[in-house]
Amino acid sequence: MSKFTPDTIDRVRTAADMVEIVSAHTELKRAGARYQGLCPFHDERSPSFSVHAEEKLYHCFGCGVGGDLFDFVCEKEGIDFPQAVELLAERYGVEVKRDKEDPEAEKRRKERDRLQQLLERSASFYAATYRDSEEAAKSREYLTSRGLEAGALESFGVGFAPSAWDTLIVRAQRAGFSPQEMATVGLAQKGKNGGMYDRFRSRIMFPIRDARGRVVGFGARATREDQKPKYLNTAETSFFRKSEILYGIDLARPAMAKAGRAILVEGYTDVIALHQAGLTETVGIMGTAMTEHQIARLSATVDTVVLALDADAAGQKAMLRAQEVAAGRKVTILVVAMPAGEDPAEISTAPGGPDRFREMLDAAVVLPEFHLSLILDSVDPASPRSRDDGLAGAVPVILGVEPGALRNELVRRTADGLGIEPSVVVSRLEKGPDSGGSASLSQPAESVAEAAPPAAPVLFKRERRERSLLVMCIANPSEGREWLGRLEERHLSGPLMVRTAAWLSGNLDDPMEGLDKDDPELYRLVSAMVVRADPELVGKGAIRRNFMELELAALEEEISAAKDASPEVRADLNRRRSDLIEQVRKAEDERAAS
Ligand code: UTP
Ligand code: MN
Repeated sequence: MSKFTPDTIDRVRTAADMVEIVSAHTELKRAGARYQGLCPFHDERSPSFSVHAEEKLYHCFGCGVGGDLFDFVCEKEGIDFPQAVELLAERYGVEVKRDKEDPEAEKRRKERDRLQQLLERSASFYAATYRDSEEAAKSREYLTSRGLEAGALESFGVGFAPSAWDTLIVRAQRAGFSPQEMATVGLAQKGKNGGMYDRFRSRIMFPIRDARGRVVGFGARATREDQKPKYLNTAETSFFRKSEILYGIDLARPAMAKAGRAILVEGYTDVIALHQAGLTETVGIMGTAMTEHQIARLSATVDTVVLALDADAAGQKAMLRAQEVAAGRKVTILVVAMPAGEDPAEISTAPGGPDRFREMLDAAVVLPEFHLSLILDSVDPASPRSRDDGLAGAVPVILGVEPGALRNELVRRTADGLGIEPSVVVSRLEKGPDSGGSASLSQPAESVAEAAPPAAPVLFKRERRERSLLVMCIANPSEGREWLGRLEERHLSGPLMVRTAAWLSGNLDDPMEGLDKDDPELYRLVSAMVVRADPELVGKGAIRRNFMELELAALEEEISAAKDASPEVRADLNRRRSDLIEQVRKAEDERAAS
């Protein structure tokens, strides 16, 4: 197999009927230039899935999936791009032509396909061994005694690796795979005498799959106390990058989208047990610290991530690390207070466990609150020195919370916990995070209560406004061009929006043409906007009104940043703001009158 000619792909795209293809998975109704229906990727009651018949794009405003014709077929059929092209070519009678593939590239692709097959075969072998072999009887008993049921274990493909040195190698060789290929996917390794042997022996095997359900590696649990390490993972390979993986993501994705949240746990058994308890939005980080990559993936689908990590030092560190990697993302991190020595698997498989765990989830608190309790709990009330250390630790945590009710509550709790006056905490807060030394008593406690409006929801609204402005520009390019030209970086909330506006400025007539999938964020955002862009929905003057709102938001940001500026500068900014508000009002009146 070699690469398709670009012309082949274009002809398939032209011939295929997007509405027909999607209609096989959900019922679509026409709404103006597009079609709408219930999302075939997540469970929902009111339709938020939209299809653009001509551009052959889809987007779900509920769970955020989206892409083009080929993406849809890949996702729905679980196949890759070339397979999707072939399937559609056959269905719509398009002749497939191929470029002569670079022989090197062809070789690499074939090898990769073989390696994928090897991983899948091995997973099936382990699963069959777990189910049927005498050798696995103890492990079956063990997992059963831990409260894990056969059905759940089966859907996760849990398996067993026999104790012999070469069971898998021999089988793979018989099927035509080389020991070197076994090593490449991390299933075999070289012994001291140079021979190859199975990496996993006498272990319970947890296959690890990517979001599309393809096996990329294994976590393997010891079956005896003296077997070290307790969990052995596939070595890092080009298939298996532990930092990018979320265990169970393939099974959790629909539930995550539906619930709008993800539950994050540490272990394989925790994931399986919670799925069994009906909390199928659970994924695992496999004992590691949470990474940027993982949080980025989660925040694309959910707005809340609930951490249910072990209450040991490592788990606590992981939670605090989550705070760092999540900073600047539109995702709320909640923490479940786990009782020491218990993990989610243990809790949820005990009698009444699923309910107890749900209650714990309901009682989850935001990260700073959790962090503060950790600090206060570690303070020795009998030692003034320890109490001062506690205060020094608490200050930066409280400062991380925007002024408001929660911050006041944290101040109160800190004061109670340390046995000091709230005013002491407050004055330390006013000195900033690095203020060492003793606190002054001169500042009144009321100043914390002087609550500024919370920043996050405002930003959120603003981002929506930016998006809708860009969507309107796409829908009405002749007018949109002018407004895009006026848009500046200060109107936009982040690098992605800046990139998007820049792309649209140069490609407003056909934003999809030449849009590179190598920038997946940009691709998703632009295609979602194209799907939404409906000329009928852009009323007269709407782009202008939207632009003025953005200008106002930018101005307000400048005003709050200019707190310490000269009175003249501030007066000027304020005057510009009143002018603008006046204009916005006029525009509203005009619209109401028309
Ligand atoms: P735990 O030691 O808490 O294991 O490690 P667990 O999941 O509760 O194990 P069971 O229930 O006794 O079988 C949590 C996770 O950390 C990773 C694994 O992903 C494990 O599930 N881990 C742990 C390792 O990768 N290597 C280890 O040696 C230990
Ligand atoms: Mn555990």
